Amino acid sequence: MGRAIDEDVVLAKNLTKQYDGLTAVNSINFGVRWGEIFGFLGPNGAGKTTTIRMIYGMSPPTSGGLTVLGLDVRRNIRAIKKRIGVVPQETNLDTELSVLENLEVYANYFGIPRRIARERAMELLNFIYLADRASTMVDALSGGMKRRLLLARALLNNPELLILDEPTTGLDPQARHLIWDKLRSLRDQRVTLLITTHYMEEASQLCDRLVIMDDGRIITEGSPSELIDKHVSREALEIRVAPELTQKALDVLIPESESYEAQDENLVFFAPLADKLLRTAEEAGLKIEYVLLRRSTLEDVFLKLTGRRLRD
Ligand SMILES: Nc1ncnc2c1ncn2[C@@H]1O[C@H](COP(=O)(O)OP(=O)(O)OP(=O)(O)O)[C@@H](O)[C@H]1O
Ligand SMILES: [Mg+2]
Repeated sequence: MGRAIDEDVVLAKNLTKQYDGLTAVNSINFGVRWGEIFGFLGPNGAGKTTTIRMIYGMSPPTSGGLTVLGLDVRRNIRAIKKRIGVVPQETNLDTELSVLENLEVYANYFGIPRRIARERAMELLNFIYLADRASTMVDALSGGMKRRLLLARALLNNPELLILDEPTTGLDPQARHLIWDKLRSLRDQRVTLLITTHYMEEASQLCDRLVIMDDGRIITEGSPSELIDKHVSREALEIRVAPELTQKALDVLIPESESYEAQDENLVFFAPLADKLLRTAEEAGLKIEYVLLRRSTLEDVFLKLTGRRLRD
């Protein structure tokens, strides 16, 4: 497949989607590069699903430009669909069929000959550790297994771009880590991945670059560590003091911090080295009731930018 490596896999210019009266996606701009895991992080209703549904041709943009694999989604959606894989937010497997049959039926949509389809399906079932379940009915699979099967199905046509809407929502940590491993190994095989998530942990573990969305807009963009450095600082000192000492804590610590936020009942100060902040507080004789030194997170970034938590 001829392609210029410096060309974006997905390129959106002032991309907008309106549903009568409601602007679900509001003039967003972003570019996904070849071979990276790119994320859309944001709370419920931010516009993540709406954005990626436009990318995989389920929903036409209201206005703005959108190209996928260098092709305009308004004119070339059939050609695009042949070269991408999609794992939707809702499980849409055929529960009347077995694991293997689900893959074979889907392969048929892509015109993959029967014998090759079975080989490819078994190869993918091995990849996602479901080979021993090939003849199990889908109804009898756990949530994590269903998600893995959806992943295998999306890989049948050897996509260059794989799009996953909330790949691990509702899964336990073990099932989540297995999916993360598989997604990283796909990136190592040069598949470009685009994911949505409202788990900041998932975004920071997985994404090379991401955009944070809120209320239909992109509020910031970068790698996880760039976003943390830019909006807060690498480490956080989280403390709780008696209400009458709050002002003293702020007076002592804000001058030493790169950034400050009130989070619930705690005061959070950000700096490259948070234990230095703690020493400053102790030297000032500040009586602290609760203290936590930790790395800063994308949740801190989101709170800083919106005043809200990712999950309410
Ligand atoms: N088909 C539709 N018709 C009307 N409004 C819609 C439609 N699909 C989405 N919306 C609205 O668009 C906004 C963005 O929804 P979207 O599903 O893109 O959010 P999301 O970021 O994927 O959220 P979640 O984390 O809950 O999946 C919401 O206000 C939603 O109600
Ligand atoms: Mg969604």
